[in-house]
Amino acid sequence: MNQSPHTHSLYTRFGGEQTLKKLVPSFYDKVAKHPELAKIFPEDLTETKIKQFKFLSQFFGGPDLYSRDYGHPMLRARHMPFPITPSLAEAWLGCMKDTLRELDIDEEIKNEMLSRFTFTAHHMANTPD
Ligand code: HEM
Repeated sequence: MNQSPHTHSLYTRFGGEQTLKKLVPSFYDKVAKHPELAKIFPEDLTETKIKQFKFLSQFFGGPDLYSRDYGHPMLRARHMPFPITPSLAEAWLGCMKDTLRELDIDEEIKNEMLSRFTFTAHHMANTPD
């Protein structure tokens, strides 16, 4: 069998680039409308969306676009400048849950994505409520 390393990844199963091209803008539309999240994000989310698209590609087992352009993600360290409380992490996850609900992919796959997002979002919390 001559399969690419990405064949069975979550990335491939959720529809890869096509799905991320819907997920990322939809997610940041929600972030921009959330009163607490909007406070800590830049007003112009263009760069943020590009970085997140590249990051999520590799996070889910697709091409390692983020590391190629920005080096090791060091995600927790990159979030340290922002006060992320457990409730802010839940707000982030709430926006992601609403985004996943809009996507036309299997429930089982959505649940797998959500569980990875949940783990990582909790890991980003760096300040108590
Ligand atoms: C837990 C709640 C979270 C909050 C409040 C939060 C907030 C932020 C903020 C304010 C930025 C900076 C935006 C910018 O300067 O463009 C950022 C960057 C980023 N976040 Fe989050 N984030 C959270 C969770 C996550 C999670 C779970 C992931 C991945 C699954 C993630 C991935 C990223 C990436 C890839 C960047 C860009 C890093 C860079 O290269 O500068 N974040 N986040």
